[in-house]
Amino acid sequence: MKGIIFTEFLDMVEDYYGLAVVDEIIQKSEGVSDGVYTSVGTYEFNEILSLLVALGEVVSKDIQELLYVFGLYLFNSLRIAHPEIIRSYKKPMPLIAAIEDHIHVHVKKLYPDAALPSFLILEKSEFKLVMVYKSARGLYSLAHGLIVSAFEHYKEEVNVQFEILKEDGSEVKFTVVSHA
Ligand code: HEM
Repeated sequence: MKGIIFTEFLDMVEDYYGLAVVDEIIQKSEGVSDGVYTSVGTYEFNEILSLLVALGEVVSKDIQELLYVFGLYLFNSLRIAHPEIIRSYKKPMPLIAAIEDHIHVHVKKLYPDAALPSFLILEKSEFKLVMVYKSARGLYSLAHGLIVSAFEHYKEEVNVQFEILKEDGSEVKFTVVSHA
């Protein structure tokens, strides 16, 4: 998993819970990197899971809820780190519909070793998008937060529903309906 995910995750923990909690979760988790990450480095996926589980224990929150909140936070971090990608979209729905064919394609050029999910579009119109998130990493709540945050960025109202198709979260159907 790319370092930018780790650096932003720890920044979020610091912003919301303070540095003491950052130190505590790094100590609690069995990360081989000891909490030292660079945004261009690549680290074991298990490391982010350990940090997430440790945070859930320390702040008594559900992992999916924490991933969702991290998705909300992460969209702004990615937008600031890569403004050229976001700038080409005037509205959020076309942006979400283009994750697979444009945004993550671009990400793969920037970070060739990125491990990205796939999004299979089942239905697409101006105000409605139905797509299936697929990834062995099962980070669908992160995707949920990223989608909601993208709409917030453009100040558009949205309703996002999801249906877990595979119990391990590796396939999840999203229905995104905008009210703009
Ligand atoms: C709202 C739109 C987006 C959604 C829903 C989305 C979804 C996701 C999800 C769920 C992951 C976690 C990996 C997995 O599930 O297998 C991911 C990874 C990633 N995404 Fe996106 N993404 C979005 C936009 C972007 C943008 C705008 C950028 C950068 C400019 C970006 C860059 C990345 C990077 C760097 C990773 C990490 C890959 C790795 O760790 O190897 N994404 N994305």
